[in-house]
Amino acid sequence: MKILAIETSCDETAIALVEANGGIQNPRFKIFKNFVASQIKIHRPFGGIVPNLAKREHLKNLPLLFGKIIKDQRSKIKDIGLIAVTVGPGLEPALWTGINFAKELRVKCQKLKVKCQLIGVSHLEGHLYSFLLKKSGQRSMVKGQWSKIFPAIALIISGGHTILIKMDSLVKYKKLGETRDDAVGEAFDKVARLLNLPYPGGPEIEKLAKKGNPDAIHFPRPMIEQKNYDFSFSGLKTSALYYLRDNKNFKKEDVAASFQKAAFEVLIKKTLRAAEEFNAKSIFISGGVAANKTLRKQFESNIKYQTSKIKLFFPEKNFCTDNAVMIAAAGYINYLCRKKRKLIANGNLGL
Ligand code: KG4
Ligand code: ZN
Repeated sequence: MKILAIETSCDETAIALVEANGGIQNPRFKIFKNFVASQIKIHRPFGGIVPNLAKREHLKNLPLLFGKIIKDQRSKIKDIGLIAVTVGPGLEPALWTGINFAKELRVKCQKLKVKCQLIGVSHLEGHLYSFLLKKSGQRSMVKGQWSKIFPAIALIISGGHTILIKMDSLVKYKKLGETRDDAVGEAFDKVARLLNLPYPGGPEIEKLAKKGNPDAIHFPRPMIEQKNYDFSFSGLKTSALYYLRDNKNFKKEDVAASFQKAAFEVLIKKTLRAAEEFNAKSIFISGGVAANKTLRKQFESNIKYQTSKIKLFFPEKNFCTDNAVMIAAAGYINYLCRKKRKLIANGNLGL
């Protein structure tokens, strides 16, 4: 089945054309086209995303990216069997641009007498299922050996969310906890701003942290000892603010490294505790913050230290940050288990 996927929940306009096979037992994805038009330069002067600018850019980019997809003789509208579009969570004006574009496309398909379904997807399902993707798209990560993979713990860490999930199977899962205030990516962006680093702050903090001492400043590890699976990152951000206010001769590199260490210690400790409690065979990490190489290394070394039996899955870097291939993957799985979502923008949609 060929899937055209559209993602416009935030500041990336993304369209992908993906072929999905294998059904729910062995979902495999072959990526034909994967375009992401980033709006970073447009939002950067404002230090964050401006919803109406995002909407304007999506309206401009969607037809351009779609044009690039069908320019290729091998990618014809008549071959599309499923259109998957993000319906939330995110910025509603931005989400509507993708939903309306998808609806127009479905009308075009109907006029061409093409049998094509339109399915709404949660952006979070996209991140959750991104562990199934490989860059080449040729091969499934798991080859259907579910009994060796589940139960699993999934951690979604992005600019808008920090969620810990227990998965009994690909389609049966339950939220264990989430952030009570700022998402971890949001904390990276805010601390970066305090350090006069450009938006988005995550990659900038990561770069700077490589040159700093992670033990130079002891920032708090919020909620690390609490027995629940919730998080809180706003206090950590505030302590960075106070540190910068009270210490005039700080080294930016040390602030970045110490902040990053504090945030990652909480994420790793709580995720591994959940893995232990629920006897997880694997851990799936996804979302923009999962692109961070230091986090990847620290997760790996902690797992080796604690129990080398747990398999750790990180998507390729370009499937950590927002993209439409993950929306195609989630669309395929929703389609297979007939999970229907309303085709209306819902800024607060869950999993
Ligand atoms: O998943 P994503 O692209 O969009 C949302 O769904 O929010 O995540 C974006 C977030 C931003 O907060 C960005 O600063 C953070 O991911 N991020 C990183 C890195 N790359 C992106 N955070 C830490 N280290 C990185 N290398
Ligand atoms: Zn995202």
